[in-house]
Amino acid sequence: MKTVLVTGGAGFIGTNFVRWVLGHTDAAVVVLDKLTYAGNAHSLDDLPADRVRLVVGDICDAPLVDSLVGQADAVVHFAAESHNDNSLLDPSPFVTTNLVGTYTLLEAVRRHGTRYHHISTDEVYGDLELDDPARFTEATQYNPSSPYSSTKAGSDLLVRAWVRSFGVKATISNCSNNYGPYQHIEKFIPRQITNVLSGRRPKLYGTGANVRDWIHVDDHNAAVWTILTRGRIGETYLIGADGEKNNREVIEEILRLLGRPADAYDLVADRPGHDLRYAIDSTKLRTELGWAPQYRSFSEGLAATITWYEAHEAWWHDAKAATEAKYAQQGQ
Ligand code: NAD
Ligand code: TYD
Repeated sequence: MKTVLVTGGAGFIGTNFVRWVLGHTDAAVVVLDKLTYAGNAHSLDDLPADRVRLVVGDICDAPLVDSLVGQADAVVHFAAESHNDNSLLDPSPFVTTNLVGTYTLLEAVRRHGTRYHHISTDEVYGDLELDDPARFTEATQYNPSSPYSSTKAGSDLLVRAWVRSFGVKATISNCSNNYGPYQHIEKFIPRQITNVLSGRRPKLYGTGANVRDWIHVDDHNAAVWTILTRGRIGETYLIGADGEKNNREVIEEILRLLGRPADAYDLVADRPGHDLRYAIDSTKLRTELGWAPQYRSFSEGLAATITWYEAHEAWWHDAKAATEAKYAQQGQ
């Protein structure tokens, strides 16, 4: 694989994926990213120009997408509108980017016969009860709750249809909640870290009982490369690292690692339609492709993430006030 087109490579997981590819393979990367509020060209600043090229553009721009796909050996599609809270305020860009953008990429890989890997989320399966021992598998029925998760679910279904109808060489992965460096500070973990670092109090929605299944972004990206290079065409693989924690536990751990009292946070308005619990069974990926997570301790991964945000205030500082002003309008 000589050249990989990475959509959304200036966002959180995409930026980490580009770094993972540079560190573990000989491939060159072309990033296609619109640089929305969630994309940051500076996240790619320090990377070698002979291996990484950033093209600023929209995945809905069919001629541009066609030309870039035509020059690539594979496409890994991360670009999306990705934040549930934003999707509740204005679903429109979610429908356009997540559905029309994916359609545009699928038509281009169909024309060029290019290998395509589709990045998706476990949120397409809806949520589980807190006391339910079940976890999501590849056989779980789709049941998305929000404009974000429903547009991701729709994009997954487009991929499946393009595989079956047109023979597109695609795979899909559905991963649980990621954490790590370069994550936008609107998201739960970096929001709380930067709240403490900027003299604000962490904000917990509702009672904090909701459970997420946390995975380090490098473990996600190692799994993506494994599926891209060794996965079976047409298959879906769930990615998860057995990292279930409720939101209260996560906030308390952030406060502990930053040397603050365990109760130094605020309870704020709950998210409408807030999914209760996500949990992934990644047996298929582990047994079929031999992938296993390398980050065994959430506390260690979280401590390293906190250190990154402490050392990179310039990366997040300018977005902080605007992000918090937007949340404040919603009582969050
Ligand atoms: P992000 O919001 O941090 O980054 C998204 C990137 O896509 C940004 O750089 C943005 O500029 C770009 N983008 C948005 N619209 C675009 C468009 N129309 N054309 C080109 N570029 C555009 O998101 P993320 O957290 O890195 O998520 C990446 C992917 O992984 C998404 O598909 C998301 O659904 C999926 N995912 C995320 C998580 C998670 O925990 N963050 C978990 C599972 C799956
Ligand atoms: P988030 O990072 O938005 O990811 P997702 O909605 O995709 O799971 O939120 C993770 C969890 O944290 C979710 O249950 C909502 C909750 N949350 C808070 O309690 N406080 C916050 O400030 C944010 C942003 C999220």
